[in-house]
Amino acid sequence: MRDTASSSRRSLTRGRGALLTAGALCAVIFLVTAGLVLTLPERPESGGAGQLPQLARRNDIDLGVAVAVNPLVHDREYRSVVTEHYTSVTAENTMKWEYVQPQRHTFDWSGPDTVVGFAERNGLDVHGHTLLWHNQQPAWLAQGSWSPDELRQVMREHMQALMGRYQGRVTSWDIINEPFEDTGPRLRQHLWYEVLGEDYIAEALTMAHEIDPQARLYINEFGIEGGGPKADALYRLVTDLLERDVPLHGIGFQGHFVHGNVPEDLSEHLRRFTDLGLEVSVSELDVRIPEPVPEGALQDQAREYARVIEACLDVPRCVRVSVWGVSDGHSWIPEWFPGYTAALPFDESYTPKPALGAMVQALSRRPSRPPTR
Ligand code: G3I
Repeated sequence: MRDTASSSRRSLTRGRGALLTAGALCAVIFLVTAGLVLTLPERPESGGAGQLPQLARRNDIDLGVAVAVNPLVHDREYRSVVTEHYTSVTAENTMKWEYVQPQRHTFDWSGPDTVVGFAERNGLDVHGHTLLWHNQQPAWLAQGSWSPDELRQVMREHMQALMGRYQGRVTSWDIINEPFEDTGPRLRQHLWYEVLGEDYIAEALTMAHEIDPQARLYINEFGIEGGGPKADALYRLVTDLLERDVPLHGIGFQGHFVHGNVPEDLSEHLRRFTDLGLEVSVSELDVRIPEPVPEGALQDQAREYARVIEACLDVPRCVRVSVWGVSDGHSWIPEWFPGYTAALPFDESYTPKPALGAMVQALSRRPSRPPTR
């Protein structure tokens, strides 16, 4: 009996022990799972909706997107993609000269007001794009015959109107867009250069600083992301401007990449400019793929998006990565580069592509970087 009793106690104890072990195991599994859920992005493969802004802010980096007015007004899904995934917006076109001042002294604020109002209602920052550029100028400006003083007056009026209207609301501006010829290294011989000479750049930056002393003033350029003669020429220009105390705060590396050509050493080229005391951004990121999209290309593209985010995170004064469009259905690529497609993190139906998950992962992998601004 005793034996039987003790054996049943033993088996009871063993049973309890097994129960306790199973319970502890469950608890461990639960805690590990809960821990993972808390530390890993939620369903990054689904696009990590809501994760990106939080992760970007934690890393003190702005994650921007270029927006167009029409879908911003008429397309609810378009608006959701912007508010759920980004922390700032850039107007893709509507703050450009031809839209803002289509006739001299006639300003159209409908587009810019829409973008800035949308951003403010949704807690997004606005990066201003763009003041002096050779494209998208109205005919009255491009075809006018100007003396240097007249053109300076035109420049001042336009800057005062645009920057003045959004002072304190648009906190950084591309003052000079694409100053070098497409393949560099010569300065672009456009209206501003021809009438005012090389110093139009210093004049414009100085004027912009007088109008809005708090704004961060940028030169925005393409084809400089992997170094080379154009980047060197920009470096020399910028060094000269800084030596002369011209108010310049940042360089935008546009980042219009062809799939397979995102430089491995992007961070080095960014850092070269932050070493001068400037901030930098990747201002117009897209990675275009030739049609038909080869198998595996979207996964490779995802790694390229991650590489860009990581490069920016590696450089303390890299403040922003902005993608150039909300979805492949709104991208400038098919119109400008026939035969190329699929350059952005969302497809035409707003379905997130691997690139979006890769951005989430890139931002989640690192410990938060300390604030630098
Ligand atoms: O203005 C007409 C409008 O009246 C018409 O209804 C509409 C119909 O398609 O076309 C409008 O013009 C288009 C304009 O964007 C505004 O949507 C042009 O056809 C189109 O070629 C133009 O392209 C823009 C391009 O700049 C112009 O140079 C792109 O959307 C815009 O993404 C692109 O952005 C530039 C950056 O500002 C600077 N860096 C390079 C980048 C890509 O070119």
